[in-house]
Amino acid sequence: MEILNSSKDLVQWRKKNDPSAMVGFVPTMGALHRGHLSLIQRCVEESDVSIVSIFINPKQFSPDEDLNSYPKNINADLEQLKKLNVDAVFMPSADDIYDKDDTFAVNETLLSLKLEGKSRPHFFGGVLTVVSKLFNLVQPGKTFFGQKDAQQLLLVKKMVSDMKYPIDVIGCATVREKNGLAMSSRNEYLTKEEREDAAVIYGALVEAEKMWGGGCRNSKDIKGAMANILKSKNNIVVDYISIVHLSSLNEVGKIVNGRVLVSLAVFIRKVRLIDNIVLGKNNI
Ligand code: PAJ
Repeated sequence: MEILNSSKDLVQWRKKNDPSAMVGFVPTMGALHRGHLSLIQRCVEESDVSIVSIFINPKQFSPDEDLNSYPKNINADLEQLKKLNVDAVFMPSADDIYDKDDTFAVNETLLSLKLEGKSRPHFFGGVLTVVSKLFNLVQPGKTFFGQKDAQQLLLVKKMVSDMKYPIDVIGCATVREKNGLAMSSRNEYLTKEEREDAAVIYGALVEAEKMWGGGCRNSKDIKGAMANILKSKNNIVVDYISIVHLSSLNEVGKIVNGRVLVSLAVFIRKVRLIDNIVLGKNNI
């Protein structure tokens, strides 16, 4: 496994590859867990050459967020990547990715303002800018993103389509802990008890699916039932509960078809957790 510490190393590595090889790419911020590993395993299986990036992207954190304490686990990450037979790992510095006179950014002007974008206005600009830089450097044929971050996946798909990147974006199912809690690097901030309590997040989503499966089409009723489940744990504070059309991300009152994303964000102390399901088992 090659370790590439700079964009210069990456460009050289990229030139060495057979031009006809299908390069698969998984961007991450490290502290790898089973969710990341499922994407990476698929990438290794479905590509001729596989590359993973580990880069905690400062541009997607606001000043009051957890950039400085974001979990890091480089040695364990590299061990896991080696075990999965990943060909290369790209671990650039922030100065390398963001030149000091860099004045460019990638901004989306509609879908990025909704849901997560409302609570974290800086977030998608930061994500799309870094993902675009990483795509330019790695030049993958395929890239793998998790449905856990549904709006991110949708926006990366849209960026690739609107900006004409010749890349296939593959959405991968959310990997969960035994109790249903979606795996996340930020789960490391939670105590054992908090992780147990956090099971109600998925519980609320399962309830939404159950109600929809039972014929309920009224978003307000479903959101109310979800809120009640979350309320059962008094250390959970809801940021939002949302039911939107997958294509427009507009809230729906009556659910007339299954192309609907049910998502939520909650705080446990200062730890912000998100999760979602798509009704009717539709993938994004
Ligand atoms: P990060 O949170 O490290 O996630 C990297 C990838 O792993 C994303 O595509 C995310 O959706 C996926 N992932 C995380 N938890 C998952 C789970 N439980 N099941 C399945 N997939 C999961 O997302 C980012 O980093 C950054 O925003 C990034 C795209 C790297 C840009 O900086």
